[in-house]
Amino acid sequence: MSQSEPIDAQGLPARAAALDLLTAALAKRAGIDEGLTHPALNALEPRDRAFARALVLATLRRLGPIDAVLQSRLAKAPSDRVVQILRLGVAQAFVLGTPAHAAVATAVDLAAADPHSRPLKGLVNAVLRGLTREPPALDDPDLMAPPWLYARWRAAFGEADARAIAAQIAEEPATDVTLKDPADAQAVAASLEAEALPGGSLRTALRGEVSAWPGFAEGRWWVQDAAAAIPARLLSVESTETVLDMCAAPGGKTLQLAAAGARVTALDRSAGRLKRVTENLGRTGLSAEVIAADATSWNDRRRFDAVLLDAPCSATGTFRRHPDVLWAARPSDVASLAALQSRLLDAAGRRVKEGGRLVYSVCSLEPEEGEAQVAAFLSRTPEFRLEPIAPGEGGAPEASLRPDGALRIQPHHLPGGLDGFYAARLRRA
Ligand SMILES: C[S@@+](CC[C@H](N)C(=O)[O-])C[C@H]1O[C@@H](n2cnc3c(N)ncnc32)[C@H](O)[C@@H]1O
Repeated sequence: MSQSEPIDAQGLPARAAALDLLTAALAKRAGIDEGLTHPALNALEPRDRAFARALVLATLRRLGPIDAVLQSRLAKAPSDRVVQILRLGVAQAFVLGTPAHAAVATAVDLAAADPHSRPLKGLVNAVLRGLTREPPALDDPDLMAPPWLYARWRAAFGEADARAIAAQIAEEPATDVTLKDPADAQAVAASLEAEALPGGSLRTALRGEVSAWPGFAEGRWWVQDAAAAIPARLLSVESTETVLDMCAAPGGKTLQLAAAGARVTALDRSAGRLKRVTENLGRTGLSAEVIAADATSWNDRRRFDAVLLDAPCSATGTFRRHPDVLWAARPSDVASLAALQSRLLDAAGRRVKEGGRLVYSVCSLEPEEGEAQVAAFLSRTPEFRLEPIAPGEGGAPEASLRPDGALRIQPHHLPGGLDGFYAARLRRA
């Protein structure tokens, strides 16, 4: 469903599900993926489910400007539920293009359906009706990100890059796929109406249910953002080599390493998430040793030619597909994740053979999780040094290459966008 097509007003159950989904997505640790398995959503017809999802994503992609508009209209903040109803109403009317009278009426119905919000249905009506008389623009990049994150990006990258990053938040991303066999590129590109990106990823114009697209069931490709496909390529693994993918689930990078012919060990702490790795390996006909263990205390003495540490992180770089991360993240998350990343880097270093290489990556825009991690690791682990990435290597945008040879990929570095990532390659003496 494209954001520009007007979406007909759906019934109350779809909007009620959108309300539950928005509430769950903004609650800490209940991201949009987990929210999509919300019982309220599962009970819906596919069309209503698609509408609820599109409405929540549209709301989250412009939450900053929507809240600024609402704040200017509200003398004091009403209950959380009424705020969510108003946010959904604004997104319907001014982002999705639902006719204004329908957007207002359904928001009022949502308020009326809940005993606690019912007394405020007049307020919902008045605020939304008032806005329909002077439709708000909702496109100011300075309002797109939560202020604390925007301030961090300005401090880390400067005003121009911070604005360019923030301007990507409202954009609906296309889907990128990675090929099992690069020789298949032309045929897959034709069947998925896709363009080839630097590095070999394909960007498809298709929308909707991925599992129905040609070549999915046969395992000829898997969904993976163009930026997420870069770190595994930086290891340039060969078929005789052993590789440890230390935080592997759901497995996009494991598949890349296995497709390159390496003997891959895929480790992850979460047995539940590892099921996705096993399923993905099964569908693509690739193989890897899959182990559920905490990498910091993994009881195994092996060392590997190459290690990939795609560490757990605040995931602020993934806002194009998961705009909820921006609003659910807290400053304290960055500090606690940085402490875990540091322990994981030490554990990863111990697994690298002499002369072997280590790629560290995070889908975070926060320097504490990227640049600072690698600098601290190098200063406490003298047997490793940074091995600079060459311009364009792995399909990395030129603008992402830092003077030290690491990558700081920002979401505006590719036309049409890509996820924010940090990646560095290290070699053991
Ligand atoms: C960014 S995700 C990895 C994404 C994956 N590399 C991919 O490309 O599909 C981080 C993963 O780290 C795992 N994780 C977190 N702490 C861990 C630990 N101490 N040991 C092993 N895995 C851990 C999480 O379960 C999560 O699956």
